[in-house]
Amino acid sequence: MSATTWTTDNIPDLTSKTIIVTGGNSGLGLEAIHAYAAKNANIIMACRSTAKGEKAKQEVLKLNPKANITVSKLDLADLASIRTFAVDFKKNHPTLDILLNNAGIMMTPYQLTKDGFESQLGTNHLGHFALTGLLLDCLKNCPKSRVVNVSSIAHKKASIDFDNLLCKDGINYSPYQAYRSSKLANLLFTDGLQTFFETQQIDCMAVSAHPGVSDTNLFSHLAPAWLTTFLRPLMLLMMQEARRGTLPELRASVDPTTKGRDYYGPNGRREMKGDPILVQTDSVFLTKENASKLWKASEVLTSISYS
Ligand SMILES: NC(=O)c1ccc[n+]([C@@H]2O[C@H](COP(=O)([O-])OP(=O)(O)OC[C@H]3O[C@@H](n4cnc5c(N)ncnc54)[C@H](OP(=O)(O)O)[C@@H]3O)[C@@H](O)[C@H]2O)c1
Repeated sequence: MSATTWTTDNIPDLTSKTIIVTGGNSGLGLEAIHAYAAKNANIIMACRSTAKGEKAKQEVLKLNPKANITVSKLDLADLASIRTFAVDFKKNHPTLDILLNNAGIMMTPYQLTKDGFESQLGTNHLGHFALTGLLLDCLKNCPKSRVVNVSSIAHKKASIDFDNLLCKDGINYSPYQAYRSSKLANLLFTDGLQTFFETQQIDCMAVSAHPGVSDTNLFSHLAPAWLTTFLRPLMLLMMQEARRGTLPELRASVDPTTKGRDYYGPNGRREMKGDPILVQTDSVFLTKENASKLWKASEVLTSISYS
């Protein structure tokens, strides 16, 4: 099979592998869980609503009655919830093979997480930064473990205002710019995390992926509902199915040829859809210095230290 036609058939058997998928009840996360379940993985579907999670789990079980899935409560917009999730996980799992940091929100109006962070950076980046730090022992205990951060083509040409990281009081808040910054943060975090693993000689890899433009629930804040409904036929022409959109993150999580900092996305025009391949990041902001700045700020804000 050529490198440009990677499919779920390329996923190896995952028996005895433990995988956490954040935002596993919907869209790309749910599709990833279908694929992992088909390969016998032990899956933790981490969701902010366990009711939604149980419903999604039943969907998977309908197709695959032997799927091994535990639904677990995780609200990435609440550090206390992240801590509780990590404590519960560690009680039952000494090791973690794959942490798929997939959950996200897009273009939400200005709002704050429980801990007072602007919600897009808070959920998409800071929540995952905290979660990964709290699960570090389990990743360390597992040889060749991986952390996959899900970014977006929206990171291209984006920047982060380190002087106003949390967009204080919502002054000059732009839902789109805040989303772009949070997706750039996912890539800076991948770089910082890989540097951390290398420096500490930890046998874990940090990688990232993006799904192009995929048909999921992510677009609920893009426009008023009536306009989205009206535009949907047009939007569908530009999008791919979630099942296909999840392939880059799946590939990033299991491909044996993957190296730290690799970034997967679709191979089609403008990376909007297509087969999952290695792609390039595109932002002058993606520097070691900024990765380190974001890392330090994230440690201070979340009170979670990786050392
Ligand atoms: N779809 C695309 O075209 C596209 C493009 C580029 C990047 N992405 C990225 O892909 C990832 C997955 O998104 P998707 O497209 O699959 O969208 P989706 O269908 O809306 O799924 C997002 C998931 O994240 C969960 N989530 C949101 N806030 C959370 C929180 N505070 N704590 C825990 N979970 C939370 C959602 O839970 P609820 O169901 O409870 O809301 C849902 O399960 C995101 O990181 C997104 O930025 C998507």
